[in-house]
Amino acid sequence: MAVIGKDIKKAIEILKSGEVIGMPTETVYGLAGNAYNTEAITKIFTVKNRPTFDPLIVHTSSVERVREFVSEIPEKAQLLANHFMPGPLTLLLPKKDIISDLVTSGLDTVAVRIPNHPLALQLLENLDFPLAAPSANPFGYISPTSAQHVDNQLGEKIKYILDGGECTVGIESSIIGFFSDEIVVFRKGGLAIEEIENIVGKVRIEEHSSSNPKAPGMLKSHYAPRTQLLVTGDLSLVDNNVGKIGYLGFDKFHPLIPQESQLLLSSTGDLAEAAKNLFAYMRLLDTRGFDKIYTDLLPEKGLGRAINDRIKRATTPE
Ligand code: TXA
Ligand code: MG
Repeated sequence: MAVIGKDIKKAIEILKSGEVIGMPTETVYGLAGNAYNTEAITKIFTVKNRPTFDPLIVHTSSVERVREFVSEIPEKAQLLANHFMPGPLTLLLPKKDIISDLVTSGLDTVAVRIPNHPLALQLLENLDFPLAAPSANPFGYISPTSAQHVDNQLGEKIKYILDGGECTVGIESSIIGFFSDEIVVFRKGGLAIEEIENIVGKVRIEEHSSSNPKAPGMLKSHYAPRTQLLVTGDLSLVDNNVGKIGYLGFDKFHPLIPQESQLLLSSTGDLAEAAKNLFAYMRLLDTRGFDKIYTDLLPEKGLGRAINDRIKRATTPE
């Protein structure tokens, strides 16, 4: 078990020694290490059991500090940074040599994020290096939205988890890349596409693929609980032959499943509340010993699009 606490000094000391820690952000918890130290980066990949072809996000505390390790900030990236950083947004920008190929899996762009979380910002401000941090879950599992989630899964492998409470956004950041003629969303996340388009105009959404690791962040089978998760589609799927069933609903209970086997993401139909609860509720249902968990897609708008993306990736086709 790791120590869970709010001791920034201790976190700084561990990070300076080249070790990794659990770190809070507003989206999900990260597994953080010195982005300039290849030993620390290697530890991140090992602890997470993550393939090295899947690059890491580098976190810092201000746009000025981004220039330390990024060679250029395109105009539209700067516009998005002005509006949404700190926030649930990750920008893919051309890297300087100070960022090793290990961090970017050999790509010439680095993923950059400024988390909107007071403790994370305080930590980053007090370090003279940025922090590489993927979500602090074992590769392929649901991202953690509390210090306890991190401890449950990685507690044996790390010394310290900085406790920043429950994540307020609850799903990972939106990832955006810039090309001469277009802006591309590589991962739908905590910043709605509508909000991005309000600032920079139409964007293209890159669908994820499991065959092309260069299509960033986009391994299809991701975010899965251990119990089989299925989208009901139609109610007849829920018959007597499927054993004990759980249900993860948006704002309404499923009429054919006992209510004690159900959780609602937001009884008032609020998409931000649904995003905040999504992973925590998937985890809760995963511990209940159901044979299957059913769910349904949410309205395909605002944060609903990112939530649906996570649900689709977590479901197993029958
Ligand atoms: O909200 C978040 O983004 C959280 C918190 C901890 O900041 N982090 C996170 O990291 O979700 P991770 O590693 O679980 O997901 C980052 C994704 C990866 O799937 C990776 O493929 C993609 O970002 N990525 C990183 N660097 C990239 C790059 N240079 N080009 C394209 N994709 C990149
Ligand atoms: Mg992740």
